[in-house]
Amino acid sequence: MLKVGFIGAGTVGTALASRLVASGYSVAVVASRTSASAERLARAIPGCQPADNMQAVADAADLVFITTPTVP
Ligand SMILES: NC(=O)c1ccc[n+]([C@@H]2O[C@H](COP(=O)([O-])OP(=O)(O)OC[C@H]3O[C@@H](n4cnc5c(N)ncnc54)[C@H](OP(=O)(O)O)[C@@H]3O)[C@@H](O)[C@H]2O)c1
Repeated sequence: MLKVGFIGAGTVGTALASRLVASGYSVAVVASRTSASAERLARAIPGCQPADNMQAVADAADLVFITTPTVP
């Protein structure tokens, strides 16, 4: 099954990850600026692991959503 990863565990990342899981996708890994946010999202998704850096998400996932703020 396709493994989905997230970089950015805020409002959009959390909502999109939850809806993808509800639709049958596997959200496998998440990283964020802070470990607390990544761990919070990972706890909410069975089978999802927090990662401590973005490269780990790219390495573990087949598809990565970047759900961070844009740089002004
Ligand atoms: N919310 C909406 O309704 C909405 C609608 C349309 C578009 N958008 C766009 O979607 C994007 C995300 O919005 P949001 O509402 O989800 O924002 P948010 O709630 O502030 O979440 C942003 C997340 O990105 C993480 N982050 C910030 N800088 C990072 C970095 N350098 N590396 C890794 N993670 C980083 C933050 O980490 P920490 O929590 O660890 O600090 C936070 O979890 C923005 O570009 C926004 O304009 C949002």
